[in-house]
Amino acid sequence: MTRLDNPNTAIRIVGRPIDRRDGPQKVTGSATYAYEKTGAGKALVGFFATATIGRGEIETIDTSAGEAMPGVRLIVTYRNAPQQAALDTGNRAFTTRARPILMGRRIHHFGQPIALVIAETYEQARDAARSVVATYTTEPGTFVYAEGNPVHQPELANAGFAGSTNLGDFETGFATAAFQVDQTYETLPHCAQPLEPHATLAHWEGETLHLTTSHQTLRYIQASLRTALGLAPENVVISAPFVGGGFGSKLAVHADLMGAAIGARMVGQPVKVCLTRQQMFSLVGMRPWHRQRVRLGADADGRLTAIGHEVLLYSNERDPFIEQTGIVTRSLYAGPNRMTRHLVTHLDLPNGEAVRAPGELPGLLAVETAMDELAEALDMDPIALRVLNDTTTDPESGAPLTGRTLTQCLRTGAERFGWSARLRQPRARRDGNWFVGMGVASAIRTHFQGATEVEVAVTPDRRIQVRSDITDIGTGSYTILAQVAAEVLGVDFSEVDVMLAHTRLPAGGGSGGSWGASNTTAALHQACLALLERAGLPAGPGLVRQTLAAHPAGLSARGNLPSMGNVPNWREKSRHTYGAHFVELAVHRLTGETKVRRMLGVFSAGRILNPKTARSQLLGGMIWGLSAALREAAEIDPRRGNVVNGDLAEYLLPVHADVPDVDVMMLDEPDLEANPIGVKGVGELGACGSSAAFANALYNACGIRARSFPVHLSSLV
Ligand code: MOS
Repeated sequence: MTRLDNPNTAIRIVGRPIDRRDGPQKVTGSATYAYEKTGAGKALVGFFATATIGRGEIETIDTSAGEAMPGVRLIVTYRNAPQQAALDTGNRAFTTRARPILMGRRIHHFGQPIALVIAETYEQARDAARSVVATYTTEPGTFVYAEGNPVHQPELANAGFAGSTNLGDFETGFATAAFQVDQTYETLPHCAQPLEPHATLAHWEGETLHLTTSHQTLRYIQASLRTALGLAPENVVISAPFVGGGFGSKLAVHADLMGAAIGARMVGQPVKVCLTRQQMFSLVGMRPWHRQRVRLGADADGRLTAIGHEVLLYSNERDPFIEQTGIVTRSLYAGPNRMTRHLVTHLDLPNGEAVRAPGELPGLLAVETAMDELAEALDMDPIALRVLNDTTTDPESGAPLTGRTLTQCLRTGAERFGWSARLRQPRARRDGNWFVGMGVASAIRTHFQGATEVEVAVTPDRRIQVRSDITDIGTGSYTILAQVAAEVLGVDFSEVDVMLAHTRLPAGGGSGGSWGASNTTAALHQACLALLERAGLPAGPGLVRQTLAAHPAGLSARGNLPSMGNVPNWREKSRHTYGAHFVELAVHRLTGETKVRRMLGVFSAGRILNPKTARSQLLGGMIWGLSAALREAAEIDPRRGNVVNGDLAEYLLPVHADVPDVDVMMLDEPDLEANPIGVKGVGELGACGSSAAFANALYNACGIRARSFPVHLSSLV
């Protein structure tokens, strides 16, 4: 047996770069996604018609043309939609909120569904949806923040974080500091655009709703439908065997799921609904617009004496989501006088929701750019400044920081990247018509733990079976769970089957918040130890045969991981993952074109279960940072609040030509104080801080300091 909670045991399978088990199914098309299923009998297809105003009321809606079209079975509008509970604004967790649709004349944002057409084919439903004619009473809305718009200071930000924190005397500390940076950074909304659009197939059996859906966390759906439709969780049966990406946009219930659920009930037949790519820009949440003021005060040596981070962001007051952007500053650097706070302003836009690295991506973009500005003011190397201000205790809570490796990440990266060749003076390095610069930024991300149960069994057909409701959203859940079970039980990797993503399987925290791998493998580790104990057998190749000799019907055991709220003394440690980003970037002297030449990320996330799947996620996150710095934004039309560039032709994302070879390095050290087997998460870490490294490299290249993101070409010429 390999105990993963003992760092001294020899490891065979965990930590190896094993190919994803679902890879062949995905590339050959035999992995079927929610929309490709048909349910019990032939599924009808639903398609939404959506509002073309940003705020107001439906005056008239005419569905008669569509109702007469071939194949159309039903058109649902506010006039005939079944009663659903109102949106429960008071539920602080956006993930479990009820999300009723088609519940009245009121239009809260552009793109809100006004009708759901159910027809025999997709094309019939789409054509009929386009024939729906609505007239509106339009009201003036607030779609873009303007100075003087009302703001309020919330008590809490997302995920239960305090809205504001204070330590020492920030204002005095800042005012009396020898060196000061006081800058404001603006970021536009981001829309998560996973490859697989949001889709749900629903059918009813009596009072039981069966869903096949593209979602990250099945238990959130059950909680949301309990409120919205009054369904007991056991009456919501969900399956999500393959999910083509999520990035936070598949944590909460959205219109595809509600439309399929109420539609299937109304027509008494299975119904499936898939959002179009364009609809995803208004119906699955977005990262809110932000304006952040960062104030850093330092003494003559560069020691931070005052750190202030104020975050102004929009949050829809009906469907609030207050991105926890200020939290990054709370545990990043030492310094006696500190202040963080969130300020919220309402806009009549689609609601904000978690989008990859919620909080850290915009927060570190601001703070780590400000650190570069401080290094410049001090005429100090930006790595030296960060190392000088490193700490082993949490600067706000005083708790020890477990696995704190920020300095190692920075130093290891500097060595590997060749940081010493960087010229401190901007515009000092030229390559033909290109200015070339280097930038660095730190990464930090909070480690979470959620209640998770996992079962492992020896089955009569001579297999080991792992059972969990966690989804695999392209991250490798199927693979890492088989690795852990094979490792701890001493059996071959090929003897282990992994059953995932069904509500009849043991419940866990799902895939989100970068906690899926750590929660689920830690619970599985417990389950495997319990199975060996129940079998009374040692781990090893004979385990299955010997277990079945004594228990012909098979044997199973469960393992549990408590939620962090139920771990005694959880708050006595401060748990995070860390990293350092390095970027070399060129800017064309005449055209302002930017070209990324090299990227390196050095990361520390505890024990690395599978360096291949971990690397994929980390480099994806780093490229996301490139995107946030230089490409990606939802451009809001100030007249109607629609996303002007709401499709993948105009919503700029990095393509292969924009991305050089990406170097990813992992400091693979179990953090046994974070998690019983030393595993933290990598899902979002790559996207934490990387965008600041691009902004800082841009400054070093051409001397232009970007404070508004993404950087527009017009600001570089
Ligand atoms: Mo993540 S944005 O919690 O999927």
